[in-house]
Amino acid sequence: MPVLSTPITVGNARLSHRFALAPMTRSRAHADGTPSELAAEYYAQRSALGLLITEGTQPSADGQGYLNTPGIYTDEHIAGWRKVTDAIHAAGGTVFIQLMHAGRVAHPDNTAHHRLPVAPSAIAPVLEMTTPTGKSAPPVPRALSTDEVKATVEDFRLAAAAAIRAGADGVEIHGANSYLIHQFLAAASNERTDQYGGSIENRARFAIEVATAIAGEIGADRIGFRISPFVPGMDESPEAADLYRYLVAELAKLDLAYLHVFHFTDEDLLRDIRSLWSGPLLVIRAGRTIDDLQIDLESGLADVVPIGKLALANPDFLKRYTAGADMNEPDWATLFGGGAAGYTDYPTLATV
Ligand SMILES: Cc1cc2nc3c(=O)[nH]c(=O)nc-3n(C[C@H](O)[C@H](O)[C@H](O)COP(=O)(O)O)c2cc1C
Repeated sequence: MPVLSTPITVGNARLSHRFALAPMTRSRAHADGTPSELAAEYYAQRSALGLLITEGTQPSADGQGYLNTPGIYTDEHIAGWRKVTDAIHAAGGTVFIQLMHAGRVAHPDNTAHHRLPVAPSAIAPVLEMTTPTGKSAPPVPRALSTDEVKATVEDFRLAAAAAIRAGADGVEIHGANSYLIHQFLAAASNERTDQYGGSIENRARFAIEVATAIAGEIGADRIGFRISPFVPGMDESPEAADLYRYLVAELAKLDLAYLHVFHFTDEDLLRDIRSLWSGPLLVIRAGRTIDDLQIDLESGLADVVPIGKLALANPDFLKRYTAGADMNEPDWATLFGGGAAGYTDYPTLATV
């Protein structure tokens, strides 16, 4: 397939090629969660990628885990995002805001409210997080009550409505990478005894309720859903592949705009997902190189391939890729936090 010139319809969006911008946290929002003016410039610079999936954005104050991540639940957030979506649209792009509730992967020192993180169960993740005073392990989270789980579904629904008011073309539900929705899916982080824990059906219930509630609010054709089966650092139980088959089959009934798989190890599972999902499938293979970017498009396993670090470091990624030109390397020191350096100042071919 000529990847650079084969159009595709993804939900409500018509895309002219098969690459997209992968969601990437950059930790440059204001302390209250309002995106900065620089965010508008950063995304507009990358708009040739067509579908831009934004950095993870918390649907509520409790959804924040990292420093300076944006939110989408206040009027200030909506006004800030409006500048970003306007800039992307003016440059010809399509934007889906990624709704990310960090759950237990959160540190009270990183939030304005300093409350304990919330999670399916009171089980701490095994990791360290960057805080204003250095690296620190997150505390044991507080388990959400059943009513609070339902209230969190509502937070997602309202955040999606806010994203649309802010001018987004859609939202991506972050069900991947060990954050709240994933914490419900994985047995090791979910020891609940109510309808949200235990069986595969119960552990998938929160994810499905979030997608269903948002579909009722903004329409299924404006929703993407991201999963990451077997992502390192997340203890997934032996029957996780079956859980994902069940989850994908249930999500497929909703007729969402797309499914987005961050793929690690299980090739059989990826093939099964492809056959269970009749809509557009976005696939990122962990650890791929620039030479591998088209393999899943060519084999038919993927319809769209989002680009992460290469697009972060190359605002003109598409132009360089087409020309076979050298790529800038990402600067690891400026990935998270700071200002324009390492954000909006990566050189394009014309300025190299
Ligand atoms: C700086 C950085 C921030 C990221 N933040 C997010 C995020 O907010 N949400 C998400 O789903 N994935 C996030 N990811 C994962 C990327 O979307 C992508 O899956 C990963 O980088 C692999 O793709 P790549 O090899 O093209 O970089 C992040 C990756 C990087 C490098």
